[in-house]
Amino acid sequence: MKRILHILSAKEFTEEFRESFLADVEEMEKLRGDPSKRKGLLGFLKDVIIVLFFYEESTRTRISFEIAAHNLGARVISAVNAGIFSSVKKGETFYDTIRTLIGYIPRFIILRHKVKGSAAQAARIVDESGRNVSIINAGDGTGEHPTQALLDWWTIYKEKGRVEDLVVAVGGDLLHGRTTHSLVYLLSKYKGVSFIFIAPDNLQMKKDLCDYLDVKGVEYEKTSDKRKIKEADVVYWTRTQKERMNTNKIYTWVRDLIYRLFCYVDTRYVITAEDADSMKEDAIIMHPFPRVGEITRAVDKNKRARYFQQSENGVLVRMVILCNLYGVKIRK
Ligand code: NCD
Repeated sequence: MKRILHILSAKEFTEEFRESFLADVEEMEKLRGDPSKRKGLLGFLKDVIIVLFFYEESTRTRISFEIAAHNLGARVISAVNAGIFSSVKKGETFYDTIRTLIGYIPRFIILRHKVKGSAAQAARIVDESGRNVSIINAGDGTGEHPTQALLDWWTIYKEKGRVEDLVVAVGGDLLHGRTTHSLVYLLSKYKGVSFIFIAPDNLQMKKDLCDYLDVKGVEYEKTSDKRKIKEADVVYWTRTQKERMNTNKIYTWVRDLIYRLFCYVDTRYVITAEDADSMKEDAIIMHPFPRVGEITRAVDKNKRARYFQQSENGVLVRMVILCNLYGVKIRK
């Protein structure tokens, strides 16, 4: 299999890559679960230097990547809040920052940025430099989050036993939510997968992704009715990405005040315990997190809830991503 240097978009995950990746995750799970073998993992990326450069907030992506790296014996340098605590704050351009980081020759730069396309731009800067540095897109604005898609996909495979022939309801802020974009690109590669996009009209799935599905002949429907989750095998719910909208601050302040004063909760896009009960018996509920009220805590007790398991899977899947890019053979 041709080795990949960067991970930029879920569109790039070929069938060959996916098959080998699934086998690798299974093997890695065994190695990690076996106390006599776990120590050996520390040699997989021994002393490899990994830079995490995050211009945006993160809990799960950053920490799970760091733990994955530590589990493999790598050394990690983490620049959190890079937009404030680096020379970016002084006005340095993206090009200069990335070119400088590449010059230090870390083996990986894991990048999260506000601007769509920034990871691809960083990869072009690497390619021009001729250095052996892998760029991993850890979220580029409203663009994509391909490593999240890999862990979501693995979770679906593990929990449902297959990825083919599934009805997947994707809900929330589909216009801005990059995790939904990458997941749909990835799942649309499978036979028999269809989507129900559940969102208010102004936050419906972005046009270029729908065009992509049309070209590939993948079935999907758009609706604003959350009751449609009843038809799904997988429900993937997401938050509203307020930070990516130009909402009027006074308007949101007044609206939130009214909600609080009159104890009014808008549940049109909230999954409650009752909604969860209305789903298929063997359906699963996922969320990339953070959740900010769109799945109530009562749902956590529902047998269909898988979101905490999903986030836990992040470490295992990211260990495999790092090994794959570095060229370490997981299966002997
Ligand atoms: C998401 C992100 O940053 O895109 N979280 C994650 O990485 N697991 C989702 C979000 O911010 O809503």
